[in-house]
Amino acid sequence: LTLTEALDALPKVELHCHVEGTMRPATVVELATRAGLPLPTTDVTELYTYNSLDEFLTVFWLVQSTLTTRDDWARLGYESVLDAAAHGRVYAELFFTPARHLAAGSALGDIVAGLSEGLAAAETETGSVAMLIADVDRAFGPSAGVAMVEDLVRLRRAGAPGVERVLGVGMDSTERGVDPASFADAYRLAARHGLRRTGHQGENSPPTAIATLVDVLGAERVDHGLSLVDDPELMTRFAAERIPLTVCPNSNIRIANAFPALADHPYPAMRAGGLLATLNTDDPALTDLDLGYEYASVATAFDYSFDDMVAIALDGVTASWLPDDDARALR
Ligand code: HPA
Ligand code: ZN
Repeated sequence: LTLTEALDALPKVELHCHVEGTMRPATVVELATRAGLPLPTTDVTELYTYNSLDEFLTVFWLVQSTLTTRDDWARLGYESVLDAAAHGRVYAELFFTPARHLAAGSALGDIVAGLSEGLAAAETETGSVAMLIADVDRAFGPSAGVAMVEDLVRLRRAGAPGVERVLGVGMDSTERGVDPASFADAYRLAARHGLRRTGHQGENSPPTAIATLVDVLGAERVDHGLSLVDDPELMTRFAAERIPLTVCPNSNIRIANAFPALADHPYPAMRAGGLLATLNTDDPALTDLDLGYEYASVATAFDYSFDDMVAIALDGVTASWLPDDDARALR
């Protein structure tokens, strides 16, 4: 068994993966055709090209727009887990970002029910479990964020189908020019109703924005959190408080062009600084990644041993929102 094979087979947890970003290219083309949605090209090697986070988001939004019916979401959830299970993923907390669909008239209840149905079917087949995190899309503004959380709270109160799979809320999309504090109402509402909280920050924003996410919005985890390395004092605090970060090194290179090569990524500095820095793919289908490759490439680039990688995988369990008994069983 090579290190790559061993890391592919190693049971892994993933906490930063956008379900829409796992959509198989062939499924994108099929759904777009059925929805009568023109694609700029049906050649996915051309479709999935971008040179910055904002350019990437345009492609991501196009992929999202192909999802129109409850069955589309079910299919996405099903294929997503099948593909991840093939690379050793045993548990995930997957983002979905419904702002675009809600604005177009979809019901959150249909999206949650569809996704949940697909995830459950794949779980039966593979044993790989996936829970959900409903992400606020910053591009739609603070009041759309509050409305989504209100919707989610209503579904929970009604015991709507599949809503038990939604553990909490997050926030993604563009960071540039957005003050995370403007989303405080949505986060406060989520906290009041017992929802867990995370958020994308520090992929394209300074460390002060990361501090705001945690201290003002009450986020329990930070997605990306890269710019933390620019503020050693804040980094020391995050290490001491064991605030989890969901880092996606290959995505940072392929999506944001943040570093020339994987070897230039600050992931080892984050680990060495004592941060609970987990390893994740972000948008694997759109970036041609999988979690096995993420582990193998990081091990190679930073000369990590198999045991180092097992420690990273175990940090994923620690950083997860699994109940204690389930987390213990996974270890
Ligand atoms: N950053 C922000 N928003 C996103 C991303 C990301 O990496 N992936 C999907 N939506
Ligand atoms: Zn992300």
